[in-house]
Amino acid sequence: MIEGNALREGIHWVGYVDWSVRDFHGYHTARGSTYNAYLVRDAKTALIDTVKGPYAADLLRHVAAYVDPANIDYIVCNHAETDHAGALGEVLQACPRAEVVCNEKCRAALSLHRDTSAWRFRVVRDGETLSLGRRTLQFIDTPMVHWPESMFTYLPEEKILFSMDAFGQHYASSRRFDDEESLDVVLAEAKTYWANIVMPYGKQVAAVLEKAATLDIETIAPSHGIVWRKNLPAILAAYKDWAVCRPHAKVLIAYDTMWGSTAKMARAIEEGATKQGGAEIRVHFIRASNITVLATEILDAATVALGSPTLNRTMMPEMGGLLTYYKGLRPLGKAGFAFGSYGWAKNGPNDVDAALKDLKFERLREPLTANYVPDDSVLDACRDAGAHLARKAVEMAEAFEG
Ligand code: FEO
Repeated sequence: MIEGNALREGIHWVGYVDWSVRDFHGYHTARGSTYNAYLVRDAKTALIDTVKGPYAADLLRHVAAYVDPANIDYIVCNHAETDHAGALGEVLQACPRAEVVCNEKCRAALSLHRDTSAWRFRVVRDGETLSLGRRTLQFIDTPMVHWPESMFTYLPEEKILFSMDAFGQHYASSRRFDDEESLDVVLAEAKTYWANIVMPYGKQVAAVLEKAATLDIETIAPSHGIVWRKNLPAILAAYKDWAVCRPHAKVLIAYDTMWGSTAKMARAIEEGATKQGGAEIRVHFIRASNITVLATEILDAATVALGSPTLNRTMMPEMGGLLTYYKGLRPLGKAGFAFGSYGWAKNGPNDVDAALKDLKFERLREPLTANYVPDDSVLDACRDAGAHLARKAVEMAEAFEG
């Protein structure tokens, strides 16, 4: 019988479920996460990835349910980032005969993180295989998904792709598989993961998807969250769309406000967009939201309005943080404008506008401003601009379809 953590006979999830993590290098992990590691038992035994450093003992305990860790022959390191390789040193102490299997860039990256002089490396090249007996590990370089050294490990006899960060989700669960969970929830977490971790590397992901399309895959086992064994078409189709930031007929309005004037403008923009119809409208007061959510919102929004009043000669700091985050994530193909109130200098909305230029967004108009408090004419202009955002979002979505 195959038990709950088994992907196949002799292939087991042995990772760690991190129910309580809420901050993953700034990513707000509202539903926790998992650090997935997998054990493949054959004539030779391989451990695929490890976990975050503090959870090494949990990993070893999970491994010991199936095999004495001292009998592990290979530990594959698909990715040197600490959430997967942090436990490697401690795990190796319990696996004295294990070789660390990774590519050359990964070997170098691991050695820059810690003293690896006593480790035994087996450096593999793109496409190289390693026989475990009845089964074979095949290594596929996937640079920049998510670091330069990242790779997938493919098990052709079982049609399993160990995809490391790709297709992952920060989602803690006692269940392992997508058909045991709500698909909507898992896809939503995969989208949030993409937006916050993978978005800057859309081009590289598109190349990896092409490479993966040549493989016969029945199961995708990422290094975070739920394993895909039923809904592969859904996650693969979503990745295709996300890789190009496919625009939906969706308007994102995000703002900060000091005494409520920029908030009034935001609501008037929302009114105009809603009245126009045809587009989904999302409104966020930044300080009641967070950058993780706002990264996810912009991924498939066609148009955006970003608002800040002037504070201390520039925009408000939370808006500055959001725009810095967007600068790193590089959402593609958006259109929009800046807005905000001011007292004696328009620096707040103007600086947001400059950031939109820097992001290479199509600017639909000059910044929309209100002197202290928006009067009726300003609010009417906001409604008109909101209608424009909605019309433009519909056009962009249709153009993409066409
Ligand atoms: Fe989950 Fe790039 O580490």
